[in-house]
This record gives sequence, structure tokens and C-alpha cells, in this order.
Amino acid sequence: MVQVRSGDNFAFPLEDLLSQISQRTRLIAVANPNNPTGAAVACEVLLQVARAVPMAAVLVDEAYFEFHGETILKSPERPLNLFVARTFSKAYGLAGLRIGFLAGDAGQIKVVRRIASPYNVNAFALAALPEALRDQQYVECYVADVQRGRGVLEDELKTLGLHYWPSRANFVLVRVGTAHVEFIQALRTRGILVRARHTDPGCDGCVRLTVRDTGVGLGGQNMDKSFDSFYTTKSGGMGIGLSVSRAIIERHRGRLWAEHHDGPGATFAFSIPGGPEGVAHEAPAT
Ligand SMILES: Cc1ncc(COP(=O)(O)O)c(C=O)c1O
Repeated sequence: MVQVRSGDNFAFPLEDLLSQISQRTRLIAVANPNNPTGAAVACEVLLQVARAVPMAAVLVDEAYFEFHGETILKSPERPLNLFVARTFSKAYGLAGLRIGFLAGDAGQIKVVRRIASPYNVNAFALAALPEALRDQQYVECYVADVQRGRGVLEDELKTLGLHYWPSRANFVLVRVGTAHVEFIQALRTRGILVRARHTDPGCDGCVRLTVRDTGVGLGGQNMDKSFDSFYTTKSGGMGIGLSVSRAIIERHRGRLWAEHHDGPGATFAFSIPGGPEGVAHEAPAT
């Protein structure tokens, strides 16, 4: 397998990718938007890649499509060797069901089906999916709310002068700096899980913050406690949610500050004075 690294600032490495194509190339896989950067590449560029390798398959993984809003699936010029993968784990919150789909030219999909393992989707997932698909209002509200939260988070990171990468997904990659381990730990002790990404190429000191909904879009008010726990279960307790995505990282006396209200006494603040390279410390719980 050949891995092609992204360019400066995680730009899509088109030239590099094209130059690595050989007679032996069978499959090119691209996540769009990308994880963990949240960067997206234009459909036209992906079509260019697919046209450059007519004898190989190009798989575009659109796991975060709903948060991005653009898909190559609808492109009228979609060549026969282009496939799109989607999951119901993200915007639909159905990670526990293990269900997604592969789309492409009908003739090509027939060939893929011949090599797919039998029973590769469980019966419960298939029974539940139509109901989830019917409830598009829920998905639209949830996505709009996450997009709003993502904007707030990015604005606050910008104000703080932290380096982040504008995201088209439901997370934002931010360079916290040398304090990243303490930052992750402090959030973890308060029940907020963020992903360490510092071992990924080009991601020194980086943390990925998942944005969950605020509940504002879902019924025009904050979720009540029962919905809160339901939602927490659905998304595995991961991410920054509810009040946190509204208040998550606020400018607070010039420091990076996260707030979490999950019952009495659970509000807390974590700060990195002096910006990304500063020393991390926790403010007392209030
Ligand atoms: C780009 C990308 N594709 C696919 C997946 C996995 O989705 P699933 O839960 O369907 O395995 C992820 C999950 O993080 C992802 O980031």
C-alpha cells in the first residue's frame, strides 16, 4: 500500500497522488471530508483522479457528508470506476448498528456483491434503518446544530490565536501545543472525551474536538435530562455536547476555557494561559 501524505496545511496532494499511480494501482481511497483534519476536496479534483486511473477503483469515503453538504454521488460525470462509501454512524448516530452503504455504477456493484461476505449487515440494523431514514427532520436539525457549534468553536479558537484547521466535518483539529496531554486528561476527568491526534503525521500537539449538538435545533430548547442520557448513549458518550458545544471553549480572560454543566457541581474550567504553548492548569470546579 502506498500512502500519499497531504500537502502544506493538509491540502489535498493532487500532483503527488497522480505521480504515484502505476500499472499496479488497483484502488485509491480518499476520505472526503478527511479525518482528522476536517479538510474537504472539490468533487472536480476527485473526478480528475478517477479519470486518471480508469482500470482501478476510486473509493470516496463520505462518512461526514452530512456535515459537509457536498457529495460526488450526484455528479453527472461520475465515471464507472468511482465508488462512494457512507456510514450511518455519524449524522444518524447509529454507530452501534454497524451499517453503511457503498454506491456506484449498478454493473460494478454487482461485481462487488459477488465478493462481499454473506450476512455482512445484521438484521436488527436493517430493520431499524428505514425508520431512521424516514426521520430526516431529526438529521437536518442535528446537522444544522452541529454546524452552528462548529462555527462557534472555530471562532473562539481563532480569537484565542490557537491554530486550527477549518473543518467540514463534526470535529475540529486544533494545535493545543505542549499542554495537549494535560488538556485531554483534564477533560477526561470531567467526562468529556477528546481525541489525541499528536501521533498523526503533521499533527504535533494536536487534539481533535468533536462537536455535538446543543439541543437548540431539536425542539427549540435544550434537551431535557432523559433525552440527554439517550443521546449520550447513542453517541457513546463521546464528544463535546449539550451546553458544552455552546460554551465549549470560550474566551475567558484570554485563556482557553472549557465549560461543562452536567448536574450540580460539575461545571469546570480548564485553561491554557498564554496560548498554545502555555502551561495547562485546571480552575477549581464551581
Ligand atoms: C473517514 C471515516 N470513514 C469511516 C469511518 C467509520 O465509520 P463506521 O462507524 O461505519 O465504521 C470513520 C469513523 O471514524 C471515519 O472517520
